[in-house]
Amino acid sequence: MDATLPAELERIRQGIGQEIRQKFREKLDACAQQSPERASLALEEVRIDSFGKKSALQHLLRQLGELPSEHRNAVGSAVNLLKQEMLREFEETRARLEEKASAQLLEAERIDSTLSERPRRIGTLHPTGQVIEEVIAIFGDMGFRSAEGPDVEDDFHNFIALNFPPDHPARQMHDTFYLRGERRGSSQKLSEESSEESSEELSEELSVSSEPWILRTHTSPVQVRTMLRGELPIRIIAPGRCYRSDSDQTHTPMFHQVEGLVIDECTHFGHLKSCLSAFVRAFFEQDSVGVRFRPSYFPFTEPSAEMDIACVRKEGALSLVEEISPDSEWLEILGCGMVHPNVLQACNLDPEKVQGFAFGMGIERLAMLKYGIADLRTMFEGDVAWLEHYGFSPLDAPSLLRGLRPQAC
Ligand code: PHE
Repeated sequence: MDATLPAELERIRQGIGQEIRQKFREKLDACAQQSPERASLALEEVRIDSFGKKSALQHLLRQLGELPSEHRNAVGSAVNLLKQEMLREFEETRARLEEKASAQLLEAERIDSTLSERPRRIGTLHPTGQVIEEVIAIFGDMGFRSAEGPDVEDDFHNFIALNFPPDHPARQMHDTFYLRGERRGSSQKLSEESSEESSEELSEELSVSSEPWILRTHTSPVQVRTMLRGELPIRIIAPGRCYRSDSDQTHTPMFHQVEGLVIDECTHFGHLKSCLSAFVRAFFEQDSVGVRFRPSYFPFTEPSAEMDIACVRKEGALSLVEEISPDSEWLEILGCGMVHPNVLQACNLDPEKVQGFAFGMGIERLAMLKYGIADLRTMFEGDVAWLEHYGFSPLDAPSLLRGLRPQAC
C-alpha cells in the first residue's frame, strides 16, 4: 500500500475535497463563458473529466478499498458527499446553460410582426398582348375563332394568292424583308421527285425553289391558308407578328396585326359595317362611336375601305365621340373590304357561290389609342418601368362579361 495514502485521505476527510471541487467549479464557469453551441460540448467534457473513469473522484473511490477499515467509512462518506454535491452543481449548471441557450435562440428568431412585407414584383402583361386578348374576346363572342400562320412565308401566300401579281405596284408599299438561302421545302421535293417529272415541270419547280422566303408583311396570308383548307363557312381572326423594312416614329420593323375573315354564301358589305362598328364600340367600351367607311384600295378586296373613328383631341389626349362636330377629326383605324373574286379563285373557292369580307388592323395602333401611349417605339423597348406603368395584371383575363379593361398594375 502507498505509504502517503492515509495522510492524503485524511486531508480529504478534513475538507481537502475542496480542491477537486474548486477545479470543478472553475471548469463549469469556463463553460458558461462559451457560446451556447460550444457550451454543451464543453459541459460534456467537464462531465467526463470530473466523473469519468479517469477522474480524480473515481481515483479516490477506487482507493477506498485499500484503506484501513477504521478510515474507510469516514473517508468513503466524505467522498460520496462530495460527488453528490458536484453532480447537483453540474446538473444545475447544465439546466441554467440550456435555458440561456433557448432564450438566446428565441430572441434571435423573434418575428417582428410590425415590419412591413418586402415588395413583391410580379410581371405585367404587355399592352400588345392585352389588346390581342381583348380583340379575341370580342370577336370570340361574335362567333369568330382564332387562327394562326407562320411568320416566314412564301411569295404565293403573302402576295400572289392575294392578287398581287409580280411587279404589282402595291408590293412596293410593303417594304418586304427577304431571307437569304434556298427554300428547303422545294429543293427537297425536287431531289425526291425529279426522276418522275418532265423537264418542263422540273424547271417550274426550280424557279419556285430559287424564290427566297420572306417575312410576312401582313397577316393576310392566314386568310389564304384558311380558305385553302376549304372548310366553309369561315369566321376567323388571326392575330400575329408582321414585318416591314421601315422604322420611324410611327413604324417599327416588327409589329402586330389582327386579320379577320368571313366567308359563306350570303355575307355582304352591310355585315362588314355592322360587325366592325360593333367591334369598335366593344373595344373602346362606348355605347356609341361615330364611324365612317372611306373608299380605299387593297389588291385583295373589292370594294375596299378604310374605317375611321370620330374623336376629339383635348390637350393631346384623344376621346372618341358619337357625332362629328367642328372640333372633331377622323382617325383611321383599319382596312377592310369584300374578298376579291381573284383571291377566292386562287384559294380554290367559287366566287359565284361564296363571298365574304376581310379586315386587318394594327394592334399597336389600337393599344396606343385606347391606353394613351404616345410613342410606338416605346412598346418595343422592354423597359420594366414602362411595363409597370402600362402593363396589365396577368391574373385578369379580359372578357365581355366581366369587362375588357382589367386593373392596370
Ligand atoms: N393586309 C392589309 C394591310 O396590311 C390590311 C387589310 C386586311 C385590308 C384585310 C383589307 C382586308 O394593310
